Amino acid sequence: MIRGQGFGHAKIILIGEHGVVHGHPALAAGLSAGIQADAVAGSGRLRVPAWSLEARAGDGSTAGRALAAILARLRVSDLDFHLEAAIPSRAGLGSSAAMAVAIARAAAAASGGALAAPALAAAVDDAEAVFHGTPSGIDAAAAFGGNVGRFRRGEGWRPVPVLQGMQICVGLTGRPRDTGAQVAAVGRLRERAPVVGKMMELFGELVDAGERALAIGDVDGLGRLLDVAHGVLCGLRVSSPEIETLVHGARAAGAIGAKLTGAGGGGAVIALAPGHERDVLARWRHDGFEGFVTAVGPPLAAVAHQHGHASGAAS
Ligand code: MEV
Repeated sequence: MIRGQGFGHAKIILIGEHGVVHGHPALAAGLSAGIQADAVAGSGRLRVPAWSLEARAGDGSTAGRALAAILARLRVSDLDFHLEAAIPSRAGLGSSAAMAVAIARAAAAASGGALAAPALAAAVDDAEAVFHGTPSGIDAAAAFGGNVGRFRRGEGWRPVPVLQGMQICVGLTGRPRDTGAQVAAVGRLRERAPVVGKMMELFGELVDAGERALAIGDVDGLGRLLDVAHGVLCGLRVSSPEIETLVHGARAAGAIGAKLTGAGGGGAVIALAPGHERDVLARWRHDGFEGFVTAVGPPLAAVAHQHGHASGAAS
């Protein structure tokens, strides 16, 4: 019998990955897709069939150590977790944070609400530290929030208003990325070349401009910002041949902006291509890559409702 359920959102970072680790702001979006966890009576086992993953708290595997960290923080030992994952793992879409949030929420639901929000956040941070070393916390914030937000270390997540549901293409390189290794490499580069720190300062301006573009529905403006953000990330040496193929393919197929999202080195790419989403996906498929389209911000129907229109805004 299911004793509790919880959901964690996948995420894309629109602007500011890597800079966010070093104290700069970033703009991210939680996706409606993510991970659903069912908690049942048990002894600390984890099953994620979509990823062919089975682990036990404390079994020495990364997932087992992360689960042990969550359960220890929440003082829970009598539950097993069955997860439905609608996103690939290690693809730059925040799968580890979505998994940790889903498990923590399912454990909280199983405890009848006896676990407070700060304990859940701490449990997810502990799990993310197992997966990624010293993450900024943006993936966890997006996995909890599921909306568009601005995040800065020490300030946390602030929801950002979005004028209309924006469609964004997500392309998958198929190459697993290693966030901890990418973050460490950027840290070393920053120490060797102080100009890298200066480049990261640009993320602050790009994030401010991105917030303004989202607020007024300026898709063209946001597209240009994504391109500039990708340029900075290339300077940080976190792009890869597959990422460049996806970015250039998207632009050739009509995207007005494209960039890597997440840690890079593999993982995923995002592309803004209003009216050309199918063309971008077709180009990626032609080049041997999978992709999908997702909404950023509230769906158009919800926007119509917020603005008091009975219908029509989606037409
Ligand atoms: C990973 O989704 C984003 C990075 O900025 C790492 C982090 O913020 O912890 C690369």
